[in-house]
Amino acid sequence: MEGKANIILCGFMATGKSSVGKRLAELAHFEFIDMDAAIEEEEGVGIPQIFAERGEAAFRELESRMVERLMGRSGLVISTGGGTVVSPRNLANLKKCGVVIALTADVQTILRRTAGDTGRPLLQTEDREEKIRALLEKRMAAYNQADVVLDTSSSSVEEVAQALLRALQ
Ligand code: S3P
Repeated sequence: MEGKANIILCGFMATGKSSVGKRLAELAHFEFIDMDAAIEEEEGVGIPQIFAERGEAAFRELESRMVERLMGRSGLVISTGGGTVVSPRNLANLKKCGVVIALTADVQTILRRTAGDTGRPLLQTEDREEKIRALLEKRMAAYNQADVVLDTSSSSVEEVAQALLRALQ
């Protein structure tokens, strides 16, 4: 893999960042880092508990600190959390250390993929569809600043990973 030092996947919840990231890392012979999982491991608690006990702002600080630490590394495929690049500073930092790819999906696909999900605090609301719609609208401008934007609504993990590999080579 030539070019930039890391491959960074951003985008809304349930667009495939973690599953595609893992597969892309295998294909590219890069190390895979899932930021959410790394934060949970470091803190020793799950994200729902961090949100519930310390609040969203505290989680965002942990996220930004993780981005800053990852900046010093190379050869990584990094799956960010759905809100990571909403922070312009995080986005700028990530762009400095790699090629940033935004995965997208339509509202109905996100709704279907998150049915029954209890691990995403922001989606634990009565009207999940409306929440997804509102958050997506707020965040699309940030996701659109990625170097590559790819809709995953009707593609498998393998198809997306292979397409990205081709695009990056
Ligand atoms: C969030 C998305 C989650 C996780 C946290 C907040 C968001 O990651 O970081 O629940 O703000 O969209 P995934 O996109 O991997 O679900």
